[in-house]
Amino acid sequence: MLDASLLQRVEQLRKELHYHNYRYYVLDSPVISDAQYDALMGELLALEAQHPDLVTPDSPTQRVGAAPAEGFAEVEHPLPLLSLANVFNPDQLHAWYRRAQELLEDRPFDMVCEVKVDGLAVALTYADGRFLRGATRGDGVRGEDVTPNLRTIRSIPLVVDSPGLPAQFEVRGEVYFPKSGFHKLNEGRIAQGEPPYANPRNTAAGSLRQLDPRITASRPLDIYVYALGYAEGGDMPDNHWNAMARLREMGFRTNPANQLCHTLEEAQDYFQRWLQEKERLDYGADGIVVKVNSLAYQQHLGVVGREPRWAVAYKFPATQQVTRLLRISVNVGRTGTLNPYAELEPVNIGGATVKMATLHNEDDIHRKDIRVGDWVVVERAGEVIPQVVAPVVARRTGQEQEFRMPGRCPACGEPVVRPPGEAATYCINASCPAQFARLLMHFVSKGAMDIEGMGEKLALALIDAGLVKELADVYSITREHLLTLERMGEKSADNIMSAIAASKARPPASVLYALGIRHVGYETAQSLVRRFGDLQKIVSASQDALEDVPGIGPKIAESIAAYFQREANRRGLERLVHAGLRTLEESAPQEARAAPLAGLQLVVTGRLKGMSRSQAEDRIKELGGSAGSAITRKTAFLVVGEDPGSKLEQARQQGTPLLSEEQFLQLLRTGVAPIP
Ligand code: IVH
Repeated sequence: MLDASLLQRVEQLRKELHYHNYRYYVLDSPVISDAQYDALMGELLALEAQHPDLVTPDSPTQRVGAAPAEGFAEVEHPLPLLSLANVFNPDQLHAWYRRAQELLEDRPFDMVCEVKVDGLAVALTYADGRFLRGATRGDGVRGEDVTPNLRTIRSIPLVVDSPGLPAQFEVRGEVYFPKSGFHKLNEGRIAQGEPPYANPRNTAAGSLRQLDPRITASRPLDIYVYALGYAEGGDMPDNHWNAMARLREMGFRTNPANQLCHTLEEAQDYFQRWLQEKERLDYGADGIVVKVNSLAYQQHLGVVGREPRWAVAYKFPATQQVTRLLRISVNVGRTGTLNPYAELEPVNIGGATVKMATLHNEDDIHRKDIRVGDWVVVERAGEVIPQVVAPVVARRTGQEQEFRMPGRCPACGEPVVRPPGEAATYCINASCPAQFARLLMHFVSKGAMDIEGMGEKLALALIDAGLVKELADVYSITREHLLTLERMGEKSADNIMSAIAASKARPPASVLYALGIRHVGYETAQSLVRRFGDLQKIVSASQDALEDVPGIGPKIAESIAAYFQREANRRGLERLVHAGLRTLEESAPQEARAAPLAGLQLVVTGRLKGMSRSQAEDRIKELGGSAGSAITRKTAFLVVGEDPGSKLEQARQQGTPLLSEEQFLQLLRTGVAPIP
């Protein structure tokens, strides 16, 4: 009962939809709007609903996923899917190239360089221009028939129409999970309280091996094809580069990053380029593949075992590895935060051994469902601290333990608190030794009291020896105390003593910052001192008064008020004041302060006897001047310390006035520049 015009219309709609699909999913350049596409699809769906016998497996309506299967059938690949030999450095790539050159008796050859997509290999078989079957790589000889799942990938053409098409042919490519879609999927899972997937590659494999194709259809899988497998008859190019161009014309999605290279240097450059740029790609890339272009040469070079001699994978240094999470330990940060971290079975990632990784905080551990004893994916990219990305749930034995934050501080044994609404747990015992060691490190650091020579080792030694129990104890240290410490020479002791003495000249903002109050950075400390003029006034300021200061919100104000509410903290500051630290901005607060150096730029070179470089620069700024790092026409004075650098010579050449340290101190005291 079917009339010819109905059949014709169905054919027409399918053809148009295939074409628009190709424009959209393969070429990424649609020529009709989404609404127009939906209208065509709607019409075809309606016709197929009225005439179910017209539905064919290659109809564009069939991409939504067929009914679930019982299992996967095994398919034998007509030609085995090969793997690739790996190389890891330029010399190894060179050796591969030399070997090919030798076997080709020094005939020159071109290469095609491709980004190696980190997904899973599939083979797509077409007969009479129709997508017949798709299989996973399996062991290279036999794979699984995942045709209904592959049909849901929109960039795989269901029909191909092109002059000179082989009667039957096979195309190979890499199915992958786009990174953007992967992050979206994981955000959704985390929001639902489900553990996130470990990485896009395994998720792509899992999605493709779903027995229910509707699940596959809901995942944004994509494919880049990278080779023509076998082909019966037809008219195909005799080199890989042109074969890829031909596949693209036929409707397959090929990688635009592919490049024809004539020399080994070009291939090396290609590697460097994609090593730099791989993070910007929307797919995981684990290296590049270099292939001899000529198919005749490929044949001549042949295959050893499973690896062709005509191609090689040049791998990027790994950034992720899987290893065992042995323990979750907790250390105590400067402001008392309990920081959980992972102790791992040592694993080499990109050339470095990784034994520890951060776990951020308790919520993050639970969100990712990371358990002690899990196999976990660890990532180390660039200079950042290694991170535990996710557990490998499939490798669980049931013996894994969920993590619980300890109820007591691992360093001092006092109870810890987790403020409502915060992700962090804190030890609030101000005399907790772990917390104190970090606080002391902060106190002596450059932006704070700037006590040069007091590094981590010395700070810990002073704490261990019981010489420093609270911050103010730094100013009770004597030269004799220092000399009792191991490996402390007279000269070092003298230097440290003068650094401690010099730190007493640090401005009040540095003192406030040095206290290590939670949320109070240097800028905040400066704003506070500018407003109040005197640290003592900040101690007794109400939360409202604090919030009134520009840049200070309720969170910071509350933290400051809470800090000074504690008797121990107030006493600590008093002791520091008693030791001679500056709490008072010498001149009046706010605008009224004198600025004798206003508009003057000073540059410091060499070592000053009485203060460090940054102390000198701070003093210049406090008096309204600016501190430069190079001599320019704007430089008003060059302050010359001991062992001056090349700046002195430059200043002489440019006629910049010079100041000795004495003259500089006089300028700071009086605000009047001496006549040079
Ligand atoms: S060519 C004989 N090209 O890497 C040639 N493979 O380690 C075999 N792969 O199983 C493959 N991107 O899954 C080739 N542009 C590319 C590739 C690529 C990813 C995968 C493929 C293969 C594995 C070999």
